[in-house]
Amino acid sequence: MNEKQRLASQQIKQPNSTDVKSDANDNLDRLKQMSSDDLISRYFQTTYEPPNMRKAKKRLKKDVDIHYDFEIPEEMQNIGEGKKFMIRTYGCQMNEHDTEVMAGILTQMGYTSTDDTHDADIILLNTCAIRENAENKVFGEIGHLKPLKTENPDLILGVCGCMSQEESVVNRILEKHQFVDLIFGTHNIHRLPQLVQEAMFGKEMVVEVWSKEGDIIENLPKQRKGNIKAWVNIMYGCDKFCTYCIVPYTRGKERSRLPEDIVQEVRHLAAQGYKEVTLLGQNVNAYGKDFDFEYGLGDLMEEISKIDIPRVRFTTSHPRDFDDRLIDVLSKHDNLLDHIHLPVQSGSSDILRVMARRYTREQYLELVRKIREAMPNATLTTDIIVGFPNETDEQFEETLSLVEEVGFESAYTFIYSPREGTPSARWEDHTPMEVKKERLQRLNALVNQQSADTMKKYQGETVKVLVEGESKKDPDVLSGYTERNKLVNFRGPKSVIGEMVDVKITNTKTWTLDGEMVESAVEVN
Ligand code: 5AD
Ligand code: SF4
Repeated sequence: MNEKQRLASQQIKQPNSTDVKSDANDNLDRLKQMSSDDLISRYFQTTYEPPNMRKAKKRLKKDVDIHYDFEIPEEMQNIGEGKKFMIRTYGCQMNEHDTEVMAGILTQMGYTSTDDTHDADIILLNTCAIRENAENKVFGEIGHLKPLKTENPDLILGVCGCMSQEESVVNRILEKHQFVDLIFGTHNIHRLPQLVQEAMFGKEMVVEVWSKEGDIIENLPKQRKGNIKAWVNIMYGCDKFCTYCIVPYTRGKERSRLPEDIVQEVRHLAAQGYKEVTLLGQNVNAYGKDFDFEYGLGDLMEEISKIDIPRVRFTTSHPRDFDDRLIDVLSKHDNLLDHIHLPVQSGSSDILRVMARRYTREQYLELVRKIREAMPNATLTTDIIVGFPNETDEQFEETLSLVEEVGFESAYTFIYSPREGTPSARWEDHTPMEVKKERLQRLNALVNQQSADTMKKYQGETVKVLVEGESKKDPDVLSGYTERNKLVNFRGPKSVIGEMVDVKITNTKTWTLDGEMVESAVEVN
């Protein structure tokens, strides 16, 4: 059966491109004439269920469904031949990895990737909802892409990722950006072939966002970026509900992949020659808590340490769930890198309490002490929010003193951003924005100083670098990361890309190191 017959058998009329153009224009005209209430009731009450934050918060006892049966419908398998896709990714590594999955699905549908928006037949914006400025960037980009839709009505423009899980975002797109063809949520990625099909052949904007706790879909294809480092999801979602955070609503409940599925994926990556894997989850220390057998991140890491892969990292940790078993396992195996990203968020126990972080300053410091005792060379990095509602000067000073006391080597620092639907967004806040900005500057100055001081200690030292490729600034320079996650730039032959080499540090900067390759360390052909 050829493609046309297949489509006919499904009773889908494949329009020619003039039809599509005029259909799309008719569609746009009709949409423009509708009031926003009409639009919302049309899309939500008749065809679609809107994302719903209250529903997204529900955590039932029901077991997680694991699916191993993903497949691309036959009629969509070659639909992308000769066509191109582009995915723009915002936000965290989880999103980067979701993009690899979507790229894998589209590749299996026959599409190839492009970086040029003018060349693309499908453009997806994989969005982040964590702070307001992340959302503003996406709305700016949606506006920039509008002319492309007029140029090419066949173009499918989709919005996915965390922002799609927000009711207010979906409403705004329906009201103001009716040229968008497709909105789908974080639980709907495996439905991409069907959604593209609907967007291609249907007349309406396709909206599919499930406000559910989430399943696990195991056998999704992946088009990984590069062949040296790989991401591996070990769990999805978050049940912590820190009072400022939107993630538990946009990503569903904590659900762990089975150890055997993870181990198999890591083994496969090792066999393919990958040198580093990063195990991913919003709160990896909660790994296994949803199993009906005793098994945690420490057990998983122990298992993974036996695989012949030189570097294993994991992110992101939550101090509350970081247990002694994990510390013990990390301290024993060389391929489990002791770089620990341990978001603290604030140095004040009072602020931590209202953030619902479920640990105090003292408990955090005690955890750091235990980690350092077991791993004297551990690198600690963190995330910090300044200007949480009504944070006082004294409370902020406590954050500064904690940063010094722990000696973080780097930190991601943010001004608090209220997220609609989270508890703290409803609280009155008497701290002026000017004060928050000033605090951020002071914090950043301290973090930069600590980073520069750490870097200075490397002067003259020889470090092991996993060479990732040419440096972004200069193609004659190679770059890669040390075990402790320091970016090193050095001159060397291209043949060492993908290898582990020794580099002697000749110059140190605030965030990066310069060095010279120690020739004897590798065989250069
Ligand atoms: N405002 C500012 N920063 C936030 N983060 C999460 N939610 C918010 C928010 N509402 C930060 C936290 C988290 C990191 C990924 O983003 O520091 O660890
Ligand atoms: Fe957000 Fe807290 Fe979960 Fe991290 S642990 S994703 S900050 S709710």
